[in-house]
Amino acid sequence: MSLKEQSILVAGGGSTFTPGIVLMLLENLDKFPIRQLKFYDNDKERQQQIADATEVILKERAPHIKFVATTDPEEAFSDIDFVMAHIRVGKYAMREKDEKIPLKYGVIGQETCGPGGIAYGMRSIGGVLELIDYMEQYSPEAWMLNYSNPAAIVAEATRKLRPNSKIINICDMPVGIENRMKDVLGLESRKDMTVKYYGLNHFGWWTDIRDRDGKDLMPELKEWVSKNGYITPDELNGAAEEEVEPSWFYTFGKAKEVQWLDPDTLPNTYLKYYFYPQDEVEHSDPEHTRANEVMEHREKNTFTECNRIANIQTAEDAKLEADEHATYIVDLARAIAYNSKERMLLIVPNKGAIVNFDEDAMVEVPCIVGSQGAEPLTQGEIPRFQKGLMEQQVAVEKLVVEAWTEGSYQKLWQALFLSKTMPNARVAKQILDDLIEVNKEYWPELT
Ligand code: NAD
Ligand code: LMR
Repeated sequence: MSLKEQSILVAGGGSTFTPGIVLMLLENLDKFPIRQLKFYDNDKERQQQIADATEVILKERAPHIKFVATTDPEEAFSDIDFVMAHIRVGKYAMREKDEKIPLKYGVIGQETCGPGGIAYGMRSIGGVLELIDYMEQYSPEAWMLNYSNPAAIVAEATRKLRPNSKIINICDMPVGIENRMKDVLGLESRKDMTVKYYGLNHFGWWTDIRDRDGKDLMPELKEWVSKNGYITPDELNGAAEEEVEPSWFYTFGKAKEVQWLDPDTLPNTYLKYYFYPQDEVEHSDPEHTRANEVMEHREKNTFTECNRIANIQTAEDAKLEADEHATYIVDLARAIAYNSKERMLLIVPNKGAIVNFDEDAMVEVPCIVGSQGAEPLTQGEIPRFQKGLMEQQVAVEKLVVEAWTEGSYQKLWQALFLSKTMPNARVAKQILDDLIEVNKEYWPELT
């Protein structure tokens, strides 16, 4: 039986990730056929550059796919089956401020963790809710697969403010780490592993990993991670095919120090910001942060290459690569479109999946995905150590959404202070006041 062809909207068409995702979708047309591809963005000029190159790519590789790039919500969101959402409200210029302002006060400056993540959350909530509302107005049957960051705060906002909407929030970090685990174990694919995992987004732990025969792979992995973090054997021997960026190499190595806190589990790399905040500050250059790195490399390279393709009207020798990690997006869309019952880690309302944790928290756990959406799998009770950390962090995320909804300065100050990255309430207030100043265009007014 042939699979129904889908109509896809990429929201944030001007994203640096869009070309990689388009190429990945084209590589998977046998599993996930597409009849129409649309781009939507609120920055016409930025999106047009990616769209011009995409048009050339489609003409050469999949001329049957109808392609539209627009900034008009009605044109974009009509006749759509899936919205793949990856917007960055405020773009890299604001990410740079999120990172540099806290660092001025000796506090970590990061895209999704600590005060930077909170500032980004306050910008993203409105943007993502607007996308949901357009989708429901123009294609009420469609699903939104959201990977716009900061996913934890965005997910809490959608749970609270759009509880019945067809949106699933997903993150690629567990996929990235599981790919490293499979390299450590010498497996063919990360899909050879079945995992148990619990936590919040960018704040979780693997508790059980088995191969297809049910063999426990945790002892080998725990041993490796406690010594090497998530650095792979090839990276260690200098035999890796692809070199990971220096900042990521540091992060994967640092995971070992995070794992030492609970040797029974394997941690998400992002926990380093909460466990060793001073190390992160020391390791940062307040004048040149990750935002600068991405602007100088990924952003510049993507747009230069797209413009080159559009100029010469061929993508035959293009330096753009399919985003292999992003195949999880196809897995998710396929699971919904064709009811494939895929097992995946998703960010969903807890509702008892973690037995001794807030029912109303958005948690990251394994789910079975089918045409009705995600069914979380229970992960049982969690230990006091993780529970304590998660309760503090979930309070931060909930306070941010309450601050956004109520326009409350007090709640946002509480949120910043409660983040485990923050030394004291006075510094939290100073950072907050600076962030308010630069975010006037994006945040609701706080009183
Ligand atoms: P980017 O700045 O290159 O692209 C984002 C695009 O969104 C821009 O073209 C911008 O104009 C557009 N945009 C901003 N606000 C908008 C709005 N309100 N409506 C429509 N479009 C809007 O950013 P990027 O680095 O490519 O990242 C895109 C997003 O994907 C970020 O949120 C990033 O954190 C996220 N991301 C998520 C994952 C994950 O798996 N969770 C992985 C990587 C990146
Ligand atoms: C990125 O921009 O690459 C982020 O989404 C994650 C990172 O590397 O900081």
